[in-house]
Parts: sequence; structure tokens; C-alpha cells
Amino acid sequence: MGKYLINGRKKISGTLKLSGSKNSSLPILAASILNSGTTIIHNCPDISDVRIAIKILKHIGCKVFFEKNTVVIDSSSVNFYDVPHDLVKQMRSSIIFCGSLLSRMKKVAISYPGGCSLGKRPIDFHIAAFKKLGAQIFEEDGNIICHGENLKGCEINLNFPSVGATQNIILAAIFANGTTKIINAACEPEIVDLQNFLKKMGADINGAGTSEIIINGVKTLHAVEYTVIPDRIVAGTFLLSAVITNGEIEITNVIPEHLPLKNFLQLGCFIKTNENKIFLRAPDFIRPIENLQTVPYPGFPTDLQAQFVSVLSIANGKSIVHEKIFESRNKHIPQLIKMGAKIKILPDGTTFIIDGVKNLHGTNLFSKDLRGGAALILAALTAEGKTIVHDENYIERGYEKIECVLQNLGADIKFMQ
Ligand code: EPZ
Repeated sequence: MGKYLINGRKKISGTLKLSGSKNSSLPILAASILNSGTTIIHNCPDISDVRIAIKILKHIGCKVFFEKNTVVIDSSSVNFYDVPHDLVKQMRSSIIFCGSLLSRMKKVAISYPGGCSLGKRPIDFHIAAFKKLGAQIFEEDGNIICHGENLKGCEINLNFPSVGATQNIILAAIFANGTTKIINAACEPEIVDLQNFLKKMGADINGAGTSEIIINGVKTLHAVEYTVIPDRIVAGTFLLSAVITNGEIEITNVIPEHLPLKNFLQLGCFIKTNENKIFLRAPDFIRPIENLQTVPYPGFPTDLQAQFVSVLSIANGKSIVHEKIFESRNKHIPQLIKMGAKIKILPDGTTFIIDGVKNLHGTNLFSKDLRGGAALILAALTAEGKTIVHDENYIERGYEKIECVLQNLGADIKFMQ
């Protein structure tokens, strides 16, 4: 458990080269075992979730080297099909290995990932889809065992455009006999990145980025070299660091259309973009947003909700935020209230009424999850005085050396074990 020490009121200003996407790297690392050669993946962020995914790859028999954001995976000898319980506990998105292990090994054993601070996080869509593809699923003392010798393509209609379920279905269907059609698929850029990676390996898949994805099973895939897309949530977080400190920032190596820039304009920001850059200057007075809802892509992303709440805490008026994706993504709010923020959580736990205040004041804060922890750091950047953000290794899961990035942008922040 470490902590971030922040002295607030320093303007963020400067240029940041954006790191690769966590939520794209994880499914692509899982998908790398679908070929039996040596895959090279560039622009992988050096974060703890990627390091856990690499531990899983090594556990099932891959040789893996990770240096300077490039991962080299020799998956010629994958000979285990179980995902260790302690790794699933540390990273619930280990579940993404189900689809690729089913395809590679025809079976997988994994413990239920369980819930987290965001909510119950069920995996019923994943399990139902595997069954529909013809897998036999056994559950014994908290473990799921899937057997899928002869998976058969079929039509799968998702009740909700689940990102993880969409990715797992793609990975499980890649060698299935016949055609699999996913209806109401998630449209996130990370799904498109996974499709591009798979197509480069020789997969027959189309439609990612829309709500209908078609996979025609193939016999084998070959190894490739691939570069992961930039991380749109990390980009949004650092744009907001400039907004909350009345500063300015240029982010390079970013894909502007992956970000909800219209919501940044609602805050009153000045924004200029070109194909791989975003320049943002903060408004002198942050405008409130009267109705901000988290929805599936291309709408406002739930992974920026906590960070926007921090910024709206010092907006010039009242904002209302609705978290529509997760039932309890609100653990950052009691911490912000300790800083002087005026926020009410309605009984549904997902609607937040925020009355902007002039200033927040520094105090002792406790991260409860990855994006909530990042939101607390943003709030500390603007707060008067000193803030300590205690962190049970949540923030390093998704941000590569966040304290170094912010120091380079003018913040007074240190990390201590
Ligand atoms: C992915 O999680 C991301 N994680 C999350 O980012 C992100 O918040 C989420 O998508 C939504 O965009 C990764 O990509 C590793 P979902 P995932 O399945 O796939 C319900 C971050 O901070 N649901 O789209 O788990 C679920 O409970 C993380 O980087 C079911 O009911 O999200 C939730 O309410 C946090 N049954 C909703 O769907 C299922 O079988 C969306 O979940 C699956 C999901």
C-alpha cells in the first residue's frame, strides 16, 4: 500500500505523449495464445494489470518478455488451461482468458472473478454465450470449468452491450465451426483494436465498432507484430488535470474521436485537435453540467465519471451526474466530501447532485478503486494545502507512473511506499 503526497494549487501545463490502452492490451494479450508462434505487441502500458496478464501467460506455458512497453510472447507451448485464483482475485478482467483458452486448449478452469467496489460484476452474459456456442460448463466451489471441444457458431443476442462479454465471445468463436453473429455487441474502440489484431493474425471477423459483429471460424492463426491504440481514459484523466488547475495541456499520440470532447466543451474548455493531438486550455470558471449520464461508447464513458465529478465539485453552479453502467461506482464521493465538496448521492446510489464550491481543502483520502483513486488525485491538485491519497495499489493498475507524469506537467506530487 503506497500513498501520494500532493501540495495543491499548482497549474498543470505542458505536453504529454499518451501511453497505450490498458483495456485494449488485456484482451490482445489474451488473444496472443490463439497462434503458436511469437507475437510482438508494442505500446503496452507498464501497469500492474498488464503485468498480471503476463503472469497468466507464463503460467499457462508461454515465454514472455516485457521491456520498454513492448511484449514478446512465444505461445508455441501453451500446456495449461487454468487461470490461477490469486491472479483472478487481483485482476477480475482475467476472465478475458476464458475465450482464448477455450479456443486454444478447448477447456478452461477459472475462479469466479466476483464483485468489486463498482458493483457485483456478474459474468452471466459470458457463461450464457459459451453455453450457446456448445461449451459444457461445470461449477464447483467457486470455480468455473468450461469444456469446448467442438464449438459451433451461432447467433448471440446480448441483453447489454457488455465490453468483456463481446470480447470473450469473439475469442471463443474464432475457431468455432461456422458463423457466429453477436447482436447488441459493445462498440468501444478496444473492440475494434481487438478485431484489427485478430484480422492481422488471419481471423475472419467484421463489424467491430458497430452493434453487430460477424465471426467466421477459421482453422489456424499466425503470429504478428501489432501496436495497441492509445488509452482514451488516461487521456481524459490528464485533460481534466489541466481543467481542475486552470491550466493547459497538449496530448500527443492520442485518437481525439475516442474521447467525449463534447463533455469537455460543456465544462467551458477551449479545445483544438488534429489527427493525433489534443490541445486543451481550461476555462477561468468551470461550467456545471446539468445532466451527465454514463452510457456505452460512443457516449460519455463510465471510466471518466469519477474524474468529472472531481472537476464538477468546483464548477460554477449545480451539476447532476447519473452513473448508468455500474450500480455502486460512487466510493470516491465520500472522500471528496471530506475535502469540502458539496455532493449528495441519491438513494439509488447512482445519481449525484453536485453543488460546486469555490475551493476544496487538502486532507487524508483513501482510494477505493482505480478511476476513483485517479479522481482523488485530480481533486488534490486543486485543493488548498496538502493532501495524502492512500492507495492499495489501485491507481498503478491503470496509470503508468502517474506521479512522474504530473510532476513533468508542473504538479507538486510525490509517491511514497
Ligand atoms: C470493461 O469492463 C472495462 N474493463 C471497464 O473499465 C469499463 O468500465 C467497462 O468495460 C464499461 O465500459 C476492461 O476493459 C478490462 P461490461 P467489463 O461487461 O467488460 C454488466 C477500468 O476502470 N454485466 O461492459 O467488466 C456489468 O455488471 C475498468 O478500466 C452483466 O450484468 O464491463 C455492468 O453493469 C472499470 N453481466 C455492465 O454490464 C455480464 O456478464 C457493463 O459491464 C457482464 C456485464
